[in-house]
Amino acid sequence: MTYRVLISDPLSEDGIYPLREAEKIEVDMITDLTAAQLQEKIVDYDALLVRSQTKVTREIIANGKRLKIIGRAGVGVDNIDLDAATAHGVIVVNAPDGNTNSAAEHTMAMLMALARKIPQAYHALLQKKWDRKSHVGVELKGKTLGVIGMGRIGREVALRAKGQRMKVMAYDPFLTDDKAEQLGVSRGTVEEVVQVADFITVHTPLLKETKHLINTEAFTKMKDGVQLINCARGGIIDEEALYEAIVSGKVAGAALDVFEEEPATDHKLLELPQVIATPHLGASTVEAQENVAIDVSHDVVRLLTGDLVKNP
Ligand code: NAD
Ligand code: MLT
Repeated sequence: MTYRVLISDPLSEDGIYPLREAEKIEVDMITDLTAAQLQEKIVDYDALLVRSQTKVTREIIANGKRLKIIGRAGVGVDNIDLDAATAHGVIVVNAPDGNTNSAAEHTMAMLMALARKIPQAYHALLQKKWDRKSHVGVELKGKTLGVIGMGRIGREVALRAKGQRMKVMAYDPFLTDDKAEQLGVSRGTVEEVVQVADFITVHTPLLKETKHLINTEAFTKMKDGVQLINCARGGIIDEEALYEAIVSGKVAGAALDVFEEEPATDHKLLELPQVIATPHLGASTVEAQENVAIDVSHDVVRLLTGDLVKNP
């Protein structure tokens, strides 16, 4: 029996070697399928591998008559209909560790670019404006970074921020006093974190409980001139409330890697000079893409050949 694996988002060719080398597994990487085309094609495959672009809908899963496994090369599984997968007996595996470092580094890059207005200054230079007055930044040293979500990425960000001599206050329902002490951060409620922070960065998954966690009410409690970073998931920060908070002058700046609707090329937040943004690049490094592709490929091979998976 030969198993067929479809990869529908661009994955690192160097990372999918476990699949390429496996006996009895055939791999097709076809990355420009429409939803309708994927729904039609899926019928011939035992496994589907995706990043975040492919929306694995109920209809696609239902049509996967021989589909056994969906592999997500990355952390978030919010682009996969998990209820439908469960209902059809399809296992979903992700690769939660491989892009932690890259996402943490991207968050720090956004924090520093935000504090020093680097994208805005570069943009002005491209327009032949040597404008130093408009691009005065603030130091990170001595400022408080509020970290909401102290999982893999949040912790790495907290450690790096301490390297910038920032104070860190964090909230996570699973952060204990001992762990906070060990990490050298103080622990607070969401309310306390948003009240004391000069910069706030969110690192939770997008869940019912975290959707619009940062909303109009939260903005009213923040310091004037606070700056926010979202390299986790669009929707954790209420975009409408953020827009209003920036226009009112409450929020001095925001750095966004993710949006409620992606791709977000025509978003009103992008019209504000206080907003800097990247197109969901947190995990877009050679290393992270190789890591997640290797992890998820190993799991697919293990599962199709009857072994245990690492991250079901
Ligand atoms: P993780 O599961 O290790 O950590 C998430 C943390 O959020 C957990 O510690 C959890 O307890 C905490 N949490 C859950 N609900 C919370 C709440 N209501 N308030 C505060 N904390 C809460 O995940 P991770 O690997 O650190 O990833 C964090 C986020 O970053 C995810 O949304 C992931 O999809 C996203 N991500 C984005 C990129 C990117 O390209 N921008 C790359 C990797 C990960
Ligand atoms: C993730 O959840 O791993 C990220 O959003 C990264 C990605 O898939 O590009």
